[in-house]
Amino acid sequence: MKKNRQFVIIVILFFITYVTPIVAQQHILINTKSNTLALHVNSSKELSTIYYGNNLNSEQDYTLISNEYNQGTDYTGIYNATYTSSGSKNLLEPAITVTHADGNTSLDLLFVSKSTTEISKGITQTDILLKDPVYPFEVHLFFLAYFENDVIEQWSTIKHSEKGSVILNKYASANLYLQGHKAFWLNHYHGDWAKEMRSEETKLTHGIKVLDSKLGARANLFQPSVFMVSLEKPATEDEGEVLFAGLEWSGNFRTDLELDPLNNLRIISGINNAASNYKLQKNKTFTTPKFWYTFSSKGKGLASRNLHDWARQYKILDGKGPRYTLLNNWEATYFDFDESKLKQLIVDSKKLGVDLFLLDDGWFGNEYPRNSDNAALGDWEVNKKKLPNGIGTLVKTAKKNNVGFGIWIEPEMVSPESNLYKKHPDWVIKQLGRKEHYFRNQLVLDLSNPNVQDFVFDVVDQLFTENPELAYIKWDCNAVIYNAYSKYLGENQSHLYVDYVQGLYKVLERIRAKYPKKPMMLCSGGGGRVDYAALKYFTEFWPSDNTDPIERIFMQWEYSYFYPAIATANHVTDWGKQPIKFRTDVAMMGKLGFDIVVEELNANDLLFCQSAIKNYGALGNTILHGTQYRLQSPEDNDVASLMYVNHTGNEAVMFNYLVNNRYGSGSFNPIKMKGLAAGQNYKVEEINVYPNKTPVVNTKIYSGDFLMKIGINPRVSLYHTSVVLRITKI
Ligand code: GLA
Repeated sequence: MKKNRQFVIIVILFFITYVTPIVAQQHILINTKSNTLALHVNSSKELSTIYYGNNLNSEQDYTLISNEYNQGTDYTGIYNATYTSSGSKNLLEPAITVTHADGNTSLDLLFVSKSTTEISKGITQTDILLKDPVYPFEVHLFFLAYFENDVIEQWSTIKHSEKGSVILNKYASANLYLQGHKAFWLNHYHGDWAKEMRSEETKLTHGIKVLDSKLGARANLFQPSVFMVSLEKPATEDEGEVLFAGLEWSGNFRTDLELDPLNNLRIISGINNAASNYKLQKNKTFTTPKFWYTFSSKGKGLASRNLHDWARQYKILDGKGPRYTLLNNWEATYFDFDESKLKQLIVDSKKLGVDLFLLDDGWFGNEYPRNSDNAALGDWEVNKKKLPNGIGTLVKTAKKNNVGFGIWIEPEMVSPESNLYKKHPDWVIKQLGRKEHYFRNQLVLDLSNPNVQDFVFDVVDQLFTENPELAYIKWDCNAVIYNAYSKYLGENQSHLYVDYVQGLYKVLERIRAKYPKKPMMLCSGGGGRVDYAALKYFTEFWPSDNTDPIERIFMQWEYSYFYPAIATANHVTDWGKQPIKFRTDVAMMGKLGFDIVVEELNANDLLFCQSAIKNYGALGNTILHGTQYRLQSPEDNDVASLMYVNHTGNEAVMFNYLVNNRYGSGSFNPIKMKGLAAGQNYKVEEINVYPNKTPVVNTKIYSGDFLMKIGINPRVSLYHTSVVLRITKI
């Protein structure tokens, strides 16, 4: 009897010690078509990220992963937490740091539950609840998996019911963990005005590399949040394992890439916590912005194609819709125009054959007229001297000429030389009692203030109400935030950077509720604000004020890794002074526009533009909605080459550009095409041929097999600096 009891006790102890923890362990798999993000809950309820990469064939195999990787020991305290907290076990860079209502700074987040729902076809949302065992503090981690696109969006919500407010000192959106690789190569971007998207690739060394912005508004001026991490060695277009990622936030961001002592890479991304401690009241929820990422084991090309499809389908306003070609007057006139000059430009738009005329900066302000960039922002009434009959007459002229009419605004900003500044000094972000610092002679309005939000909404609403046929808006944002201080926020100054962006989104939400599809361009002195949170409200963005086509080939190339052609507005201007054909061919690889004096074009240049616009009309769908293949990079070749194939596979366009003007440079070998059907035949013909010139590439029929295995020499040279080919299935 006694022996039996002993045996039962031993069996129970065995179960408690060994079996229960095993049973309590859990694997959470977030699957997309080719990839899996695998999370693991251990017997202590710690949630960790054990894998992100191509799916394993057997789900069972995910349970074996943890044993194989180099894990931290109790002595290092390192573990691959899915949302790393600070003040308890973790001593490396945290995703979240808080000060509890009682002043305590420790946080431990343990797994409580998980649920997965299909929110629409092919999109599943996983919600994981984590709770602190000591404080009434909880975090939900959300993972939105877009199955077909292999994209995941991750974010968190933070809430507590402590007695008093909790300070969020750091509150990242996501915390990824990549392990089991000998090396990680970071490709990131830097820049300035007219120098956007300069890439740098570097092998990550131990410690933390931070990508961040603290500029407030125009936050991407020096650096955008998008980046790539290649595993083992730098990925190429078609080879290598690579992660692409970025934050959906139009303000200060911060991404920490920490190569830890175990040679694993921790990536933490979110709102920049610099000067931004956030006071979270009891039972209120703080929602972090989404962090998107995608993984490809077949190089950068696949990653960006997945991203393009995802963006067009879900992230860009009217991403599947049409786009307008346009003529902009900025470089044609700057601030120097009047009604008759603009009416002439409208007639010129028609002559050129574009869909729309876009009136840029300089149309507003009376007491403080907008004749240069040092006055009038905030005074959004029509300048009576330049335009005595208002905007309405221009809209009418446009209508008569069968073109649309669009207008430039910069509604978040104020010039010290304006009535708005005099009337509402309390609406302006500035330190009372300190010298004002200006960026482009202007200051930023305090969008954390609901009255300012109403004002900004009204700027747009009034334009559309007074001119219902207004067809397009270019929304600019030229200044950073100096002297960050909000009269409205009182003692919550550290909320300003966050509340500013949330205020901006509230305004844009209202605009879109009332004007769901009116096209709007997202501009910020060029590409100072481009991200997938803003693009939800915009149909396209302005990549850079630098429109020199050589520069643009490089920039547009880099943007194309992250954003589809339909979102990238490219204008033909006089920058660079290259032949009009070269400038137009470069602009045609995205959303085409012009910013030239049509009157000054010679007959052949005009003829060329008109026929190129017609070609674009015919091929626009393929360029804007097709699948993009980057064939030959401008970085290490004389000739840059890329192509688009439409979804039926019937038609493709190949763009080829000379990027090196040194003696003897050009394309001397064929360039292999991609994305065609090997067994089909295609007619290859040169288009956008300048009047009275003969094509350099003869029209011929080739098999897809030939075009993809041997390719075509586009015969780009110093004499033919760009060649555009149309490829049609026959
Ligand atoms: C910014 C924009 C330009 C133009 C000017 C007008 O610099 O990027 O395209 O609109 O403002 O002032």
